[in-house]
Amino acid sequence: MTQTFIHYAEPGARPGAPPLLLLHGTGGDERDLVPLARRVSPGSEILSPRGQVLERGMPRFFRRLAEGVFDEADLIARADDLASFVTEWRRTHPGERFTALGFSNGANIAAALLLLHPGLLSGGVLIRAMAPLATPPAPDLAGTRVLMLSGARDPIIPPSSRIALERVLRDGGAEVEHRVQDAGHGLTGDDLTATARWLGASPARVP
Ligand code: MLT
Repeated sequence: MTQTFIHYAEPGARPGAPPLLLLHGTGGDERDLVPLARRVSPGSEILSPRGQVLERGMPRFFRRLAEGVFDEADLIARADDLASFVTEWRRTHPGERFTALGFSNGANIAAALLLLHPGLLSGGVLIRAMAPLATPPAPDLAGTRVLMLSGARDPIIPPSSRIALERVLRDGGAEVEHRVQDAGHGLTGDDLTATARWLGASPARVP
C-alpha cells in the first residue's frame, strides 16, 4: 500500500545542499521545522510529513503507552509507512537521499528509520532522541552519518537511553557525533549552530 502523508515540500535551490526530511515533535506539524531548516541549510530541498497518530489531538509519528514508553509494534508499522512514503517520493522526485532532521518524537522516528530501513536515508540530525526500540536490530549503517544533540538537563530522556541509541548506531558502523548540549528538552540556539555546522551550510541567521 502506498502511504500518503499530509506534508509540506520545497524543491532544492542550492546545488550541494543536502535534501532534508523534517520530522516534527509531538504536537507539531509539517510547517514546524521549515524555518529552522531554511536557517541551518539554506536552499536545501525539504520534505516534511505530518505524523499520523493523534495523542489528545497532537500529531505524532507513532503511539506511546506513556512518556518514554513506546508502542513498538505501532512504531515499526509507522516507520514502514514513512519509509514507503519517502521511497515513493524519491521515485517521483528524483534526487539524493534525504538527511533526516528530527526533533523529539521526530528524532525518535528518524532513529527508527535508520535502524529499520538502513540505506533509505544518508543520515540524520537527531535532536533530543532516545533509543526507540528495546531490542533493536543490527543494521549495516556503514557510510551513514548521524549527529545526535542531547540535552544535559533533559527531564524526558534518560542518559542511558540516548547512550544506548548512540551505541547501536555506532555498532552498525555509522559515523556518529553525539553532543550533550547545555540544554533541557527544548531546542536552543546551540542546536541550530551545531546542526548548521554539521550539515555543512552557513546558516542565514543563527540566534
Ligand atoms: C515526546 O514528547 O515526543 C517524547 O519526548 C518523545 C516521544 O514520545 O517520542
